[in-house]
Amino acid sequence: MKLWAGRTGGDVDERLSAINNSIGFDSRMYRQDITGSIAHAKMLGRVGIVTPEEAAQIVEGLEGILADLESGALEIDMTCEDIHTFVEATLTERIGTAGKKLHTARSRNDQVALDIRMYLADAIDHLTRLAKDLAGALCDVAEQHLETVMPGYTHLQRAQPVTLGHYLMAYAQMLLRDIDRLKDCKRRTLVLPLGSGALAGTTYPLDRAYVAGLLGFEGVSLNSIDGVSDRDFALELLGDLSIMMMHLSRFSEEICLWCSWEFKFVTLSDDFSTGSSIMPQKKNPDITELVRGKTGRVYGDLMTLLTAMKALPLAYNKDMQEDKEALFDAIDTAQLSLSVLAPMLRSAVFHPANMKKAAARGFINATDCADYMVRKGVPFRDAYRVTGQLVKYCVDRDLTLEDLPLTDYRQFSLVFDEDVYDAIDLLTCVSQRKLPGGPAPEAVRETIRLTRQKLSAAGPDSD
Ligand code: ARG
Repeated sequence: MKLWAGRTGGDVDERLSAINNSIGFDSRMYRQDITGSIAHAKMLGRVGIVTPEEAAQIVEGLEGILADLESGALEIDMTCEDIHTFVEATLTERIGTAGKKLHTARSRNDQVALDIRMYLADAIDHLTRLAKDLAGALCDVAEQHLETVMPGYTHLQRAQPVTLGHYLMAYAQMLLRDIDRLKDCKRRTLVLPLGSGALAGTTYPLDRAYVAGLLGFEGVSLNSIDGVSDRDFALELLGDLSIMMMHLSRFSEEICLWCSWEFKFVTLSDDFSTGSSIMPQKKNPDITELVRGKTGRVYGDLMTLLTAMKALPLAYNKDMQEDKEALFDAIDTAQLSLSVLAPMLRSAVFHPANMKKAAARGFINATDCADYMVRKGVPFRDAYRVTGQLVKYCVDRDLTLEDLPLTDYRQFSLVFDEDVYDAIDLLTCVSQRKLPGGPAPEAVRETIRLTRQKLSAAGPDSD
């Protein structure tokens, strides 16, 4: 029998149930559903809509259901329409008449909006912890490589020298922004929709602020129609996770490239690598390929909900039930990706010698050579042209700027002296870039310090 066996008898075709039932996926919100109901029941008792005894009975009944679900003593009945139906039916089965009063002054429309908000707030906390852990791993590994010179790229062409520490800290900055976006999203998630009813509020004298306080919400929605129709917070989370996955996919792509023999900047530990069933020599970076690939799923989840919400008339429409699978998939995917990358990074072995070799052959100190000439009084544009000719001269002779004899340098310009070799030394090039945010070891050390400071100030642990 259906919860809503009012006007219709509630006996439905099984094909209706197949499309209509959501318990297959919304059962994972059981904790939020029960906790939300406990707050609602306490409030019903407090304002006198049910007696204090009834409220206590309902609360005790719900707590029992929660405990039994957690312990495994009670199983969710997957033939129910949704998690709300299951909890209410089980409560009534256990405590009788008082259970039938729980849904007073409430609709599943405001109830489900509350459940998702609670679920997402918890998920945001978990995601934040995982993102902090990965950012922490980036800081720790970066700290070990403040002087590990490697080429920085533009257009995937060797461009200028940086260090591995500096490179990794770029990803830490992205995660800091991701964490900040999650925090911002949580603020708009913790707005209480309960009290909106089906769409038009309720005639009962509810104490919405009390419920908000019990559940740790920061405020109550200010329009009952919007209260049940709003899924902006869910879209925001999907947007935030899409951006975060984009970051993880870029990092993953670099690791895939760096694992190749063409780069060989890094070797993943055996426990975080896979092999091939036919090629015995293979050691594959499946983890980073999968994170790269799974990014598409999260974008898809965002598109799913954006499209489901598009042009929906107010207020609640059943289309909105489609929010959950997209949200859960995006949350699961992002959590899995974050949690696997951190230990993978910590156990990876980087190869500074290969990075240095790659840095030495790409004329990535050409800008520094031009800057050397500028320091000797040559206008930058002229220095740029002369250095370009020097590079061509070296390429034709299979030399690097470091190998080129001073006599050859002086054929191009008389400003060159012995000290040019010092000026184009790769570590010197890096060390000279010591402005805040630059790749010099001392600048990166400061970036790591500031990043760690921001990480420890970012919730949820520090709340
Ligand atoms: N399972 C529904 C959802 O996820 C719950 C709300 C049902 N509301 C309704 N009017 N049928 O959206």
